[in-house]
Amino acid sequence: MPRVFVTRSLPKSVLEPLAEFDVAVHGGEGPVARSRLESEIQSADGLLTMLTDPIDKHLLDLAVRLKVVSQMAVGFDNIDMDECRKRGIAVGYTPGVLTETVADHAFALLGAIVRRLPEGMSEVRSGAWGPWEPFHLAGGDLHGSVLGIVGMGRIGAAIAKRAGGFDMEVLYTSRSSEAPLGRRVGLNELLEASDHVIVAAALTEETRGLIGAEQLAAMKSTAYLVNIARGPLVDTEALVSALNEGEIAGAALDVTDPEPLPADHPLTAHPRCLIVPHLGSASVATHTRMAELAVQNLIAGVNGSALPHPVPDR
Ligand code: DGY
Repeated sequence: MPRVFVTRSLPKSVLEPLAEFDVAVHGGEGPVARSRLESEIQSADGLLTMLTDPIDKHLLDLAVRLKVVSQMAVGFDNIDMDECRKRGIAVGYTPGVLTETVADHAFALLGAIVRRLPEGMSEVRSGAWGPWEPFHLAGGDLHGSVLGIVGMGRIGAAIAKRAGGFDMEVLYTSRSSEAPLGRRVGLNELLEASDHVIVAAALTEETRGLIGAEQLAAMKSTAYLVNIARGPLVDTEALVSALNEGEIAGAALDVTDPEPLPADHPLTAHPRCLIVPHLGSASVATHTRMAELAVQNLIAGVNGSALPHPVPDR
């Protein structure tokens, strides 16, 4: 009987289709320990992984019969794709089903930081809420502003669609093609012209550190930066100094580098930085759908069939 290892506990109903296999699940809190992963991969025909599991060369060297790595995420920068390809191991991911949920989240973060909600909430909580004053915690506007979207994949396009509802002008960068909404520009033009910038590009060796000191300095001092992609796209130290120097007005981060960000990191307590713990796709319905897709990819891979959602060649 083929054996599969699932690196995080998932709802029983989602795992039911795996009944035809010998299934082991990491049931504890947090990511599976490296030692357990190293031991499980030696007897596994398939792995169902999370973005917190580094699937690297050293680990893959231990795999004897592995046919498929099925990742429950649209991002797969934790997986060494070249090493999987060399070994003929199929890799699946979960595109499409999380697009709208992540785009909703991008707008939630953007609205919250532009209208300074974290600062308002902390006043309310600390008892510092005084009588109403003109211009107190007055922020920017979403409507009528210029929104720069870095990376025009599925999620970037869903963000652009929402921007239309706020009467925003959309600028975007894209590796490949023209998108139906907005105007394609170079990164520098986007940074200089945008009132708000949302980072929605995939993390690759080319995009690592894409937004560094020079790029932050190019942004308007009244502009807000949102990162819903992967932490390493933005240089953390450069962001701390851009906020401290007033080079940008604020930032909202769904993802950080490192992740998790230590509680005593200068960004954590920064009044103009909103950070949430990688919640972009985290609605119950969307995570259920992602887990279902990951199970479908896993079954197909173990059975030697084409994956319904294989990671594309980049
Ligand atoms: C992804 O899918 O890559 C998100 O970061 C988590 O859902």
